[in-house]
Amino acid sequence: RQQQALQIAIDGPAGAGKSTIAKIAAKQLGLFYVDTGAMYRVIAYKVLKNRAPIDDESMVSQIAKSTVVVFDHSDKRIVWCDGEDVTQEIRCPEVSRAVSVVAAYPGVRERLVELQRMEAERGGVVMDGRDIGTYVLPEADIKFFLTATPEERARRRWMELQKAGKDVTYQEVAIDMAERDRLDTEREVSPLKPAKDAIILDTTGLSIEELVSKILALVQGG
Ligand code: DC
Repeated sequence: RQQQALQIAIDGPAGAGKSTIAKIAAKQLGLFYVDTGAMYRVIAYKVLKNRAPIDDESMVSQIAKSTVVVFDHSDKRIVWCDGEDVTQEIRCPEVSRAVSVVAAYPGVRERLVELQRMEAERGGVVMDGRDIGTYVLPEADIKFFLTATPEERARRRWMELQKAGKDVTYQEVAIDMAERDRLDTEREVSPLKPAKDAIILDTTGLSIEELVSKILALVQGG
């Protein structure tokens, strides 16, 4: 495949560093960055906003099918839900708690995977998520699976939330994250797991710079 249509898949649990790395790598390589977690978050946000019963799988799937999710690929990285800027809202703890429930529904996944594959057709991408290497882009040129210890992942997420002025304790973040990991790993459709041909990288103790240069070296050498 040509450089413009390069596909890089980055999967892993929350807080492993996927989005930070994917964003920087995409910029350096001149590719689109597609944050698939943000798409699931948009659906969870809309379900909560509409006060729809989250346990009603068919209603939630219907919501997913009728929602227009749009990404702005500029540096602002705005996420739109039916024309509303929800960039900040989709990161709140309520959405983080609801998203794994919504992401387990096959109807929701079917719809979002379709959008994700459409994004990849527009040109080369760095796409991050949970099932990119295993399901969304099985033919990706290179696949990474990032991990880190649960403590490190919770610490990173907690620091991110602190920086954004969110009033949460480390304990709360660690508990929410463990529950989300459990739901994402144990669900029936496209559970979180490395693709057979993924390069597994433990990011514990690595700086962003170290990780980016490791990934770029692997992409350019491969
Ligand atoms: O990466 P994130 O934390 O923003 O992802 C939010 C949730 O969406 C996460 O709990 C799992 C789900 N997700 C998924 O099931 N498949 C993806 N490709 C991306 C995210």
